[in-house]
Amino acid sequence: MNNYTEEINRRRTFAIISHPDAGKTTLTEKFLLYGGAINLAGSVKGKATARHAVSDWMGIEKERGISVTSSVLQFEYGGYCINILDTPGHQDFSEDTYRTLMAADSAVMVIDASKGVEAQTRKLFKVCVMRRIPIFTFINKMDRDARDTFELLDDIENELGIATCPVNWPIGSGKGFQGVYDRETKCVICYSDTEKGTKEGVATQIPAADEEKLRETIGPAAADKLLEEVELLDGAGAEFDLELVHRGELTPVCFGSALTNFGVEIFLQHFLRMTTVPLPRKADIGLIDPVENRFSAFVFKIQANMNKAHRDRVAFLRICSGRFDAQMEVRHVQGGKIMRLSQPQQILADERKILTEAYAGDIIGVFDPGIFSIGDTVCTPGENFRYEGIPTFAPEHFARVRQMDTMKRKQFVKGIQQIAQEGAIQIFQEFNTGLEEIIVGVVGVLQFDVLKYRLENEYNVEIKLETLPYEHIRWIANKDQVDVSRLSGTSDMKKVKDMKGNPLLLFVNPWSIGMTAERNPGLVLTEFCVNQE
Ligand code: G4P
Repeated sequence: MNNYTEEINRRRTFAIISHPDAGKTTLTEKFLLYGGAINLAGSVKGKATARHAVSDWMGIEKERGISVTSSVLQFEYGGYCINILDTPGHQDFSEDTYRTLMAADSAVMVIDASKGVEAQTRKLFKVCVMRRIPIFTFINKMDRDARDTFELLDDIENELGIATCPVNWPIGSGKGFQGVYDRETKCVICYSDTEKGTKEGVATQIPAADEEKLRETIGPAAADKLLEEVELLDGAGAEFDLELVHRGELTPVCFGSALTNFGVEIFLQHFLRMTTVPLPRKADIGLIDPVENRFSAFVFKIQANMNKAHRDRVAFLRICSGRFDAQMEVRHVQGGKIMRLSQPQQILADERKILTEAYAGDIIGVFDPGIFSIGDTVCTPGENFRYEGIPTFAPEHFARVRQMDTMKRKQFVKGIQQIAQEGAIQIFQEFNTGLEEIIVGVVGVLQFDVLKYRLENEYNVEIKLETLPYEHIRWIANKDQVDVSRLSGTSDMKKVKDMKGNPLLLFVNPWSIGMTAERNPGLVLTEFCVNQE
């Protein structure tokens, strides 16, 4: 056993996913509060203040007052070193939101108890499923009138297709919210409306078996209802099975209220107990074990222009194995170079801290002189392997790009290609015609504005975007067996190719996708694309 095993094994790296407004930020703040990372919740990521400090790297973020990029937070709790990967909360999220999930070992899914599963959660969930990472559910806002608990669980099971296993069970909701019943200890933990931003007080615990005390404390009606529901649950619900949780097939569910600070610490404790240590990752030479192997990492995000004056780019790396030391030399596998990672830093909520060391599970940002691409591997010079690529996620918005000044073709092509290389946008061309026109695809429409802004500000090129009606893109998994020019699709289908010449199909609605698949037996369409050369 090497001397960094312990450091790695106490790491827990997870992403928080939710639909905007479900309470992701509030929950994160409370986690940090318990970890002692902040004194008063709200001071790290208060919407109006600190959230900007984290990510006002681009003028556009300031103008819109929203966060385009995602940030990483690290804190200590109960002997664990926890890395939270936050994802942009605005509806206009980008591919970065998806990529963040590639760097996490598990995900916390926050659901608004009055709304159930919402659109953005559904999208992010799909990526978690693709990666088979464990998903832990926190049903938030129990201090408001919530939907029926069984109905909420059904919603998760039906909408997302994952089995649920309540770890605790709420007693009432809204004004009648009294606390939760913990299924493991068979105790009721009572809720007291704590002041916003303070830690939970010492909660009263009553064994459910002590029916007299239970009736006295939560009232006879609530007690009867609870006992009945628990009986039902014990009889009918899915058995708790940690292995299924780890395979991403069963989600443990906790209830609480992030705002009034109830159930957050209980959830955190359960979560930490059940989630995994940094997991082995697939590389072209097999699985790389975080503890057994020496330093290795992959780039999951590139953020340009964090400091406009220097035109810098920061590459975010997830360390997958071993220990990172700022002095060490590493091999950038794709670039074929031995180098030192420059200015390694941890991007904290409101500051950037220069790092001297980090371990598997951690996320570091390094200065990128323009050599890294999304998915690149860096490792100890003695090694030479590549981590499995990061998939290209399906854009949902498309536009034709028109250049205003045709004399600036060179800058335009350079700019758009560089921005595409960073992974902020995807670019396509007409499939058949030799037309040089470029079609841009993005995951969130805000990326269109980012593209326009950056081409103007960094490359001095003005463009006009003409939006196209397509919303769905499919890669052709068996492109070598298919004659794309002879494919017969629906009249609203469009054939395009990416910059590597791979054929893709654009569709206006899901019906057309189904129709095209039906008309072309043998055609295999995919929603994500991994490593297509
Ligand atoms: P997000 O990051 O998922 O987008 O959600 P965020 O935490 O920003 O929360 C969205 C709104 O919901 C906020 O109110 C927040 O205070 C509220 N909220 C979060 N958790 C709870 C909860 O457990 N109970 C209740 N009742 N409300 C909750 P806001 O008015 O939009 O913002 P603010 O002025 O409070 O910051």
